[in-house]
Amino acid sequence: MTWFSNLYQHAIVKKAIMAVSGLFFFGWLAGHLLGNLKVFQGADKFNAYAEFLRTMGTPLLPESGVLWLVRGLLTAAIILHIWSATSLTLLNRRARTSDYEKRQGLQLDYAARTMRWSGYLVAFYIVYHLMHLTWGNVHHDFIPGDPYANLVSGFQVVPIALVYIGANILLGFHLYHGLWSLFQSLGLAHPAYNPWRRHFAITFSIVMSLGFISIPVAVLTGVIS
Ligand code: HEM
Repeated sequence: MTWFSNLYQHAIVKKAIMAVSGLFFFGWLAGHLLGNLKVFQGADKFNAYAEFLRTMGTPLLPESGVLWLVRGLLTAAIILHIWSATSLTLLNRRARTSDYEKRQGLQLDYAARTMRWSGYLVAFYIVYHLMHLTWGNVHHDFIPGDPYANLVSGFQVVPIALVYIGANILLGFHLYHGLWSLFQSLGLAHPAYNPWRRHFAITFSIVMSLGFISIPVAVLTGVIS
């Protein structure tokens, strides 16, 4: 196998890993959004739902088993996603040897760079978000076992609500490009379906981004208190 075809095969496998892990993360996020929108139904419903997620088991899994299974899969998906993205960037750099290839790559670089930076920022946001609403170690008034109160008092701090709003706008861009590239990476793209792909990517990223943003906005405007 030549040096080039070897590199190409690696790239295909890594792209597939990036697409599948991204798809898993996307599905989880859609569920997370639907769950979080329960906040509009009030404290009792939201806290009961959070408690259900924390304690849910199945005939095969003990109490809290589902939570830990999903957490494990999510952690694996995030690690694989970041690993495949980083190593594809390095592969790209190594593959680009001539000036012509460098020039051709400029346009692709723009999308890839945007994805990289939005990806890093979303990753930072996730760590901050866990410290804020799950562990509570950066929350000014964290009450263990009362996610509704933690969410409301957390977003009543304007700079924090703005961080969430900004991060979820960035997430929207990241999702848009990720969903757009997904079919290509999985070898399912066809020029005839490109308009459909674009509509799909735009609609889902806007719905996710606006859905998440609606929560800090609802707290800031007093709709949720
Ligand atoms: C404004 C939007 C969001 C709100 C209000 C929100 C709310 C919450 C809450 C209340 C929890 C803690 C539940 C608990 O431990 O009782 C949580 C956990 C979490 N959130 Fe979010 N979230 C938002 C957006 C996001 C986004 C965009 C991501 C990822 C990009 C994300 C990733 C996570 C993760 C990974 C956890 C931990 C899940 C677990 O412990 O199993 N969240 N979120």
